[in-house]
Amino acid sequence: MNRFDVLVIGAGAAGLHCAAMAGQLGLKVLLIDHAEKVAEKIRISGGGRCNFTNRHTTPANFLSADSGFCREALERYTPQDFIALVKRHRVAFHEKHKGQLFCDQSSDDIITLLLSECAAGGVQRWQPCAVKDVRHGTGGYELDTDRGRVTAPRLVVATGGLPVPKIGATDFGLKLARQFGLQTTDTRPALVPLTFDAAQWAPFAPLAGLSLVARVGTANTKTAACGISMRSESPERSCAAGEFLEDLLFTHRGLSGPAILQISSFWQPGTALQLDLAPTQDLAAQLIAAKTGSRRQLGTTLAEHLPRRLAEAWMAHQQAAAPGKQPLPPAIRFIAECGNRDLQALAATLKTWQVTPSGTEGYRKAEVMLGGVDTQGLDPDTLESRQQPGLHFIGEVVDVTGWLGGYNFQWAWASAAACARGMAQTQVT
Ligand code: FDA
Repeated sequence: MNRFDVLVIGAGAAGLHCAAMAGQLGLKVLLIDHAEKVAEKIRISGGGRCNFTNRHTTPANFLSADSGFCREALERYTPQDFIALVKRHRVAFHEKHKGQLFCDQSSDDIITLLLSECAAGGVQRWQPCAVKDVRHGTGGYELDTDRGRVTAPRLVVATGGLPVPKIGATDFGLKLARQFGLQTTDTRPALVPLTFDAAQWAPFAPLAGLSLVARVGTANTKTAACGISMRSESPERSCAAGEFLEDLLFTHRGLSGPAILQISSFWQPGTALQLDLAPTQDLAAQLIAAKTGSRRQLGTTLAEHLPRRLAEAWMAHQQAAAPGKQPLPPAIRFIAECGNRDLQALAATLKTWQVTPSGTEGYRKAEVMLGGVDTQGLDPDTLESRQQPGLHFIGEVVDVTGWLGGYNFQWAWASAAACARGMAQTQVT
């Protein structure tokens, strides 16, 4: 029988980093993954350039039932630690936006880095290899796999979340947690495009492909109902509590783009989004000022302040407004003839647009899973189960979910490092 010090299931971001560190700290490590290709999620991340960390990472950039759980690991393995590793491997990178670091060339550079760190730690990797059964007995953890039986006193579960099942995502980690008596919190897709009822979206569907900067919030983020404290020093927070000021993208079925992906993690089904489609402008004042000496039509003037397609669709939509609502002046009316009240009302429809999504694009399109293994059952120093010695959960399978912008990989690296160091320091009793 094959005996190791540590068995790691899942050769993604967290599993590779943990296996490499544990191996380099002197442990005999076997890494197992059922997928044909290694670390496919890293490969497709960041549009193929992997946004591998965020310089400004703090616990405030994560959602979790216990908002303080991730602090320990994040403080002990920081973005600077991973950046040092990236530099040591001479991977060229750049900062794109708000502390987000991307590879200059390709995500493959990060995979190559992790594989060479694993090689330096003498890590054995069995891939593809399915795990058929996991038991715990006097000899530690015993796994039945495609390639035979293996045992170790420690088992690390790094099988990630449910997004993108076609590249190997499974609920293996959640099921294993329950098998060993750990609780799991409710899970749902996050960092995901939002969809609308087809009839409700019909006026906006022709705008598919249009992108603009918008401010987006939900009732939940304002009341911090998700149990998150959003710190004012965070760089993303260039607007009021619980709102994101980012690019927004119209799609055939709804809304996407960074602003929507961010807010999707906070959005609760059945609740409305509040959007400001002209966040940097005092639109009412600008329209009123435009009246003076102008022979232009209202629609033409609006298109000077908004993307033309949006201005046109918006005016048409306002004219076809729900019965009983006071229609706004038509686009062809001369702006000089419009009352200030009408212009203020028109601006308000764009500055405080409320829409209620009918759902999300689901795990097929989500970047992460919200929820996971309940952190109450885990030691924040080592990510080890409090009640099942030697069993660790790291990365996305844990109920710690980052915002968009490199935070999820930073959690993968930090939780992996905490686990590897913890395993090297203490023997399982
Ligand atoms: P990860 O998913 O990386 O790895 C899990 C591994 O477990 C996989 O290799 C899988 O095959 C294996 N596995 C699953 N079930 C198994 C089983 N039953 N038996 C054996 N093996 C099993 N984040 C970020 O910070 N910056 C970014 O740029 C992006 N971009 C991005 C784009 C897209 C399209 C997606 C879908 C996601 C992102 N992310 C991201 C999120 C990021 O990819 C994610 O949070 C991390 O990969 C999580 O790392 P883990 O190691 O926990 O899981």
